[in-house]
Amino acid sequence: MNNKAIGVFDSGIGGLTVYKAIKEKLPGEKVVYLGDTARLPYGSKSAETIIHFSVDNAAFLLTKDIKIIVVACNSASSHAIPHLQDKFDKIPVLGVIEPGAEAAVENSRGKIGVIGTTATIMSRAYERAILERKPDARIIAKDCPLFVPLVEEGWANHRVTKIAAEEYLLPLKEEGIDSLVLGCTHYPVLKHVISGVLGDNIRLIDSAETTARKVYTILKPLGWLSQINNGREDEFYVTDFPDRFKKVGEIFLERKIEKVTTVDVCTMVKI
Ligand code: DGL
Repeated sequence: MNNKAIGVFDSGIGGLTVYKAIKEKLPGEKVVYLGDTARLPYGSKSAETIIHFSVDNAAFLLTKDIKIIVVACNSASSHAIPHLQDKFDKIPVLGVIEPGAEAAVENSRGKIGVIGTTATIMSRAYERAILERKPDARIIAKDCPLFVPLVEEGWANHRVTKIAAEEYLLPLKEEGIDSLVLGCTHYPVLKHVISGVLGDNIRLIDSAETTARKVYTILKPLGWLSQINNGREDEFYVTDFPDRFKKVGEIFLERKIEKVTTVDVCTMVKI
């Protein structure tokens, strides 16, 4: 048993989809969450910048007595995992790409769509992870940069979002994909719009759930699961705009967030 916390970071609020899945799968665990709201979005930034920010975030979480780092951001997972694993080698570092790819190849006939931010799609990280598991898979990847601001605007059900979804996704449907990886933290919020465009026959893969399962399969053999929460409160940190994080976060989680603390994580570690 290991009662240390699970550290989770994202560029902002979207990683709460992963936080929520971890809490559902592992209710006995305490989670420390960091949203780098001062520097988001990551999805339109270069690999070097994303790596730099990710190292800062991980270094901050390590000051909070954690036993695993979960990178709950696809853009950061696409670029920074090897660097983080190298730099913070005392504890496991898990991203969302590998669990997402695992879920994608399960039950797929082999034509898989992947959508994400421009940084994620340009990294081709999902492509590599899927092809490692299913070398004959055909992958059709598309960045959908408007989806994140539409979710942040609270426009998940807006007609503009439906039009954007049609523009982005109808070409993938015409290609005959059987599964679609929602390769961005915000996209699970748009599940109904996306399936409205694609129909019921295309499986949507939400890497939040598979990442939570992976956290379990990493901690369990190490004997590091914590069984009883004992009323320990989760901790939420942001680098800017705590009130906005609290407000939108409560919508994401469908529950109250008691306290959000602003921290400065910049350049904690030189790279
Ligand atoms: N969290 C990011 C991701 O999953 C989306 C938001 C951003 O661009 O920072 O790629």
